Formats: sequence, C-alpha cells, structure tokens
Amino acid sequence: MRITPSVLNADLSDLAGTLEKIPSSDAVHVDIMDNHFVPNMTFGLPVVEALRRRTTLPMDIHLMVDNPDSYAPQFAEIGCESVTFHVEASGAPIRLARELRRLGARASMALKPATPIEPYADMLGELDQVLLMTVEPGFGGQKFLDLVLPKIRRTRRLVAATGQDIWIQVDGGVSVETISRCAEAGADVFVAGTAVFRADDPDQMVRQLREQATA
Ligand code: DX5
Ligand code: ZN
Repeated sequence: MRITPSVLNADLSDLAGTLEKIPSSDAVHVDIMDNHFVPNMTFGLPVVEALRRRTTLPMDIHLMVDNPDSYAPQFAEIGCESVTFHVEASGAPIRLARELRRLGARASMALKPATPIEPYADMLGELDQVLLMTVEPGFGGQKFLDLVLPKIRRTRRLVAATGQDIWIQVDGGVSVETISRCAEAGADVFVAGTAVFRADDPDQMVRQLREQATA
C-alpha cells in the first residue's frame, strides 16, 4: 500500500519545504495541468526539474494535458520515476507507454471517471500502473465518486489476468473516510492532496492513511 501525496493544494511558494513535511510518503504526486485538457493550469517541466534536485522522494508525475505523446517522455528524460498520461488525450498510448519504459520510467495511464477500462484490457501489459480518477480531474478538494468503485474492481480482475505486477492508483477525494473502500476494491496506490496538507500533521496523516488502507 503506497501513499503518494499531491502537492496541488500545498504551499506552492515553498514546494521543497513542503516535501520535508512528508518523509513517510512513498512518492510525491505532481499534477501538471495545461488549461486545455482540464480547466486549470499549474506548472511544467522546469519546476519539476528544480524540485527533483531538492528531494529524495520519487516523483510521480500526473499529466493532465492535451498531446502528452511528445511532452510526457521529457519527464522520464529528467529522471522522474513514474509518468502518467491520460488515455483520453493520447494519440498513441501503446507507443507512448513503450517510450516511457525505454527511458527508464514507470509507464502509467490515467482514466477519467467515465472512461471504461475494458477497451484497454489488451494493452495493460504495456503499463506499470493504471490511475483511476475518483473525481473529475482539474482541482483538489472534490468529493470522492463512489461510482468508480466497480471500475476499480474490474481493473483489479483484468490486472490479475495479466499475471503482472501492475499498480492501481486512485486519485481524488481520498481520505481516511474513503481509502478503505478503494483498498477493498483493489487499489494499492493512493493519491491524497487536501487530506494530507489540510491535516495538522501531514506526515502523521500519511501514516494513518497507509494503516487504514492496510487494515
Ligand atoms: C486532481 C488531481 C489530484 C488532486 C487530488 O485533478 O489529479 O491529484 O490534487 O486532490 P484531493 O486529494 O484533494 O482530491
Ligand atoms: Zn493527480
């Protein structure tokens, strides 16, 4: 069970300081938005590159951008451990996944809440992780969508059929209230933004979430 806090709603004026507050995390989840694929904009490659030099935590990049096919590999090139692109935005997801792996990153594909997993069953073997959005992408602090739980279960079954160790990450509205439901449905990597950074003690919340997911 891995906890990957999202810095989207943390103190963006001190990102490096923010990471020092969450040493128990398995990775840091960084949301890249372009104001096209989602109605919000964050930051891009130069900020990630600068941040990477200031932390030993693995970088878990979540690209919410149009045309990730040429942009995503650049994050693998600078050494990000995991790079997620949205299948709704990719022109050639198999080629992109292979390119990310060739560059040494974990290849991860994200699905919005209404995007079914079944059309992609045959390409799961090209991936190291599937990210299932449990809110509509674009903003932190939204309410967890229970309607995604059956898709988590179906994805877990399809992953088991591949015989490979493909992680299932959930992102959006994950908290002490909702994490057990996700874990029970088959998720094993959990993004949490506001739950962690609105907590009095963010690192304690990371540990509490992990315990809750394991229980
Ligand atoms: C939303 C982002 C999430 C967001 C999660 O589009 O992908 O990573 O930061 O925030 P919470 O945990 O507050 O829903
Ligand atoms: Zn995210």
